[in-house]
Amino acid sequence: MWMKTSTMYFFSQLVGVLILSEVVCEWLPETLNLPSSHVTRYLNTFKCEAEKCYNSGSCMYRNVLDTGLCWGYETNCPHHLGYSSAHCPGDHKGWVSSKPQQLQTFLSQADFGFVKQQIQSKTLMCEPTADGESLLECSSYLQFCRGKSLYLDFRDLPARKESFRYKMDVLKKGQIGGKCKLNEYRLQSEATHQSPLQSWAPEMQHFEELPDFINEESQVCDIFINKPTFIMKIDATVNMYHHFCDFFNLYTSLHVNGSHPEMFSRDVNILIWETYAYHSNFGITWSAFTQNPILNLRSFQGKRVCFREVVFPLLPRMIFGLYYNTPIVWGCRESGLFHAFSKFILHRLKIPKRAAIDPVAKPRIKILLLSRNTQYRRILNEKALLDALRSSPRQYSVERVEFTHETDFRHQLRVIQDTDIFIGMHGAGLTHLLFLPDWASVFELYNCGDEHCYADLARLRGVHYQTWTNHTKLKPQDEGHHPSDGGPHAKFTNYSFDTKEFLRIVDLAADHVAKHPAYRHLLSQLPTTNQIKKAYRKLAKELHPDRNQDNTEKASAQFQDLGAAYETLSDPEKRELYDRCGEECVSKEGAGGGGMDPFASFFGDFGFGFGGNGNQGQQEVAKGADIVMDLFVTLEELYSGNFVEITHNKPVLKPAKGTRKCNCRQEMVTRQLGPGRFQMMQQAVCDECPNVKLVNEERVLEVEIEQGMTDGSEQRFTAEGEPHTDGEPGDLRLRIQTAPHSIFERRGDDLYTNVTISLADALAGFELDIEHLDGHKVHIVRDKVTWPGARIRKKGEGMPNYENNNLFGMLYVTFDVQFPKEELSTEVKEKLRELLSQDSINKVYNGLRGF
Ligand SMILES: *[C@@H]1O[C@H](CO)[C@@H](O)[C@H](O)[C@H]1NC(C)=O
Ligand SMILES: *[C@@H]1O[C@H](CO)[C@@H](O)[C@H](O)[C@H]1NC(C)=O
Ligand SMILES: *[C@@H]1O[C@H](CO)[C@@H](O)[C@H](O)[C@H]1NC(C)=O
Ligand SMILES: *[C@@H]1O[C@H](CO)[C@@H](O)[C@H](O)[C@H]1NC(C)=O
Repeated sequence: MWMKTSTMYFFSQLVGVLILSEVVCEWLPETLNLPSSHVTRYLNTFKCEAEKCYNSGSCMYRNVLDTGLCWGYETNCPHHLGYSSAHCPGDHKGWVSSKPQQLQTFLSQADFGFVKQQIQSKTLMCEPTADGESLLECSSYLQFCRGKSLYLDFRDLPARKESFRYKMDVLKKGQIGGKCKLNEYRLQSEATHQSPLQSWAPEMQHFEELPDFINEESQVCDIFINKPTFIMKIDATVNMYHHFCDFFNLYTSLHVNGSHPEMFSRDVNILIWETYAYHSNFGITWSAFTQNPILNLRSFQGKRVCFREVVFPLLPRMIFGLYYNTPIVWGCRESGLFHAFSKFILHRLKIPKRAAIDPVAKPRIKILLLSRNTQYRRILNEKALLDALRSSPRQYSVERVEFTHETDFRHQLRVIQDTDIFIGMHGAGLTHLLFLPDWASVFELYNCGDEHCYADLARLRGVHYQTWTNHTKLKPQDEGHHPSDGGPHAKFTNYSFDTKEFLRIVDLAADHVAKHPAYRHLLSQLPTTNQIKKAYRKLAKELHPDRNQDNTEKASAQFQDLGAAYETLSDPEKRELYDRCGEECVSKEGAGGGGMDPFASFFGDFGFGFGGNGNQGQQEVAKGADIVMDLFVTLEELYSGNFVEITHNKPVLKPAKGTRKCNCRQEMVTRQLGPGRFQMMQQAVCDECPNVKLVNEERVLEVEIEQGMTDGSEQRFTAEGEPHTDGEPGDLRLRIQTAPHSIFERRGDDLYTNVTISLADALAGFELDIEHLDGHKVHIVRDKVTWPGARIRKKGEGMPNYENNNLFGMLYVTFDVQFPKEELSTEVKEKLRELLSQDSINKVYNGLRGF
């Protein structure tokens, strides 16, 4: 059974109580479907869009409009307002001569500075000289080009029978061009990177000036394409490392082309420069960039095709490009460009963030071991390693996955996004690290001698990286055999690992995660079970059909959806599932049908009449008696708020054999006693009803103890009281009473406590901590003399006020002094007299009357 979207909406309502969800402004077009930290940059770039935001009351981003936040490639974007948080801890070495130079180098090699260089090196290769003419501009070495009104001739393609890719001879002289003034010398001098995935030189070198205007009317165009189009030469689509290099360069190219409000639009074409039909298990990733089908050259063979707007994006194997085997300056990490790419893809593919943890149970660090099902680089003792992790005293939550070409890629991303420590052997699957949360740690179990590949990728993405270092503690199955030359090769065998050493490295990774500020922030932000309950109670009250008389149908539908969402989130197993992989997993499982009515447990059966008289105006119905009960709650619960579960046996009426008299009423009857004599009398008249019997049913009710509630506050559970055979049951009313506490006494919002101190402390001063009701410490320092019965006040350390939980009462601490019980020696007595040098006082008075 699939869950309705409206139910899913309530997930976010319940879990999102504290997490600010990424709200997209109502006025924003779908094209701005971006993470919020990206929207702020976008709005600061396009003032016109920002103004629309400012003028619309519903824009969530109004308060960021004047912050000056930028991406980092704009001409006047200071580093501290840019997107990047790249940094270079420690010393510098290698190519650079100073710390600032080291950071600068990193920014331009691997961050938004790379975009800036591309933008700055763009020059016109073919220049329009009048309105409506064509244009071609490219960055250095023709790594990126952008054209307007371009002509491409694919009439030779049908002659090529074999499907092809990575070809440099798709176009010949004159098969690409436009009406503009070509700078032939400039173009040819940039066309030096002649390799299929390094530059657009193999194509652009054939560019020619054309006599005709290129537009919809042109005779030379068999097809005219109006939609902006990205023409892409892509790497190996079966390999995540390589294929994501394509996506990464496409994302970077959005910024390089930039400078127009539609820069993140999904209404674009992607045309792949090959004649194979595109197929890849990662294919869903395109949907982050386009809503249209992926085209290839087959779509246009035999035709002359003209493009109004076309971009030839950066390529995956450029010299000093990103990220294929590029040397990056030593010591720096956390590229903003990689961070932005990661968040962009996750956002657009709608991968949920880690949502909820129950902090009552200690949050557990989530470990994911990526297992390989290939011929090489298997972990021979995988089970032993997993067992070791599972029995670690650090109580890891451990999962093993195998991602195959059949595993839904969005599912893979959901699992990755919910991982703290990611473990795997060297191989393309480790590219998943791009999508780990910021605090995560990668453990490349063994890098097989290829030490830079994933270490660098992790460094660029800004996640922590570790790998196996002690070669004596790892055993290869054999020396490995390279599939082509047969020689020994570390990548072509299997390995087993020393369990102790393995655990040692994982523990280090866990230390990193636990210390990471983003992880700690996450823990502090996640809603607790109680917060979800609270949110549910509040929403349930608002949405209850009784409260929404003008549209009861809609209200009851919403109400049921809310119930289904709550039911899922309150079931520990489903909750775990939801935490791990979001709405879709729990929806596949199906919701509802559990038989539990979450509403009844908070409000009682039927739920009528909370907060007032729900039955107003209706005719009087017989009602059973209310049951009033005291509910003793601890001061701790009243201090922090809590939900307590109470189980009660509710007598309910069930059909039974036979009949019974019912609806009995008194009626007047007239009886003739004799001629002319009548007697009027009252008589009980009853109907015959099916018989009923009382059966005890066990019910679980959840009572919310709100912060600062006072004794006598009542919570009513409708129809949970005494049954009435001919009417409705009465209500159950629970009255809050504070149970006595061994440390604190409550008077109004104030708390009182007593502390016994020693005589020495009383005279010489002291410091102490009192543990408060929620465990926080109240620190007390005295350097003055403290006499028995002395009282100090601590502001704000009393109980929270019921009406306003942010106000707290006073804490009064009264001291008594424990005098030494043993006899003091004469010598000590002498010393004391001497030290205190106090005269005798001996005042006699009537203390009872206060004289
Ligand atoms: C590239 O940018 C130009 C404006 O600078 C814009 O008109 C064009 O549509 C963009 N191309 C794509 C494919 O987005
Ligand atoms: C590697 O492990 C061996 C065997 O336990 C040990 O003797 C050696 O000191 C370790 N080497 C390093 C560099 O830690
Ligand atoms: C590695 O393990 C796989 C699966 O057990 C096996 O097929 C393969 O032959 C092993 N490779 C080597 C080099 O032993
Ligand atoms: C404890 O403190 C209260 C006031 O807070 C005081 O009335 C009472 O006498 C104290 N008890 C002792 C044993 O000192």
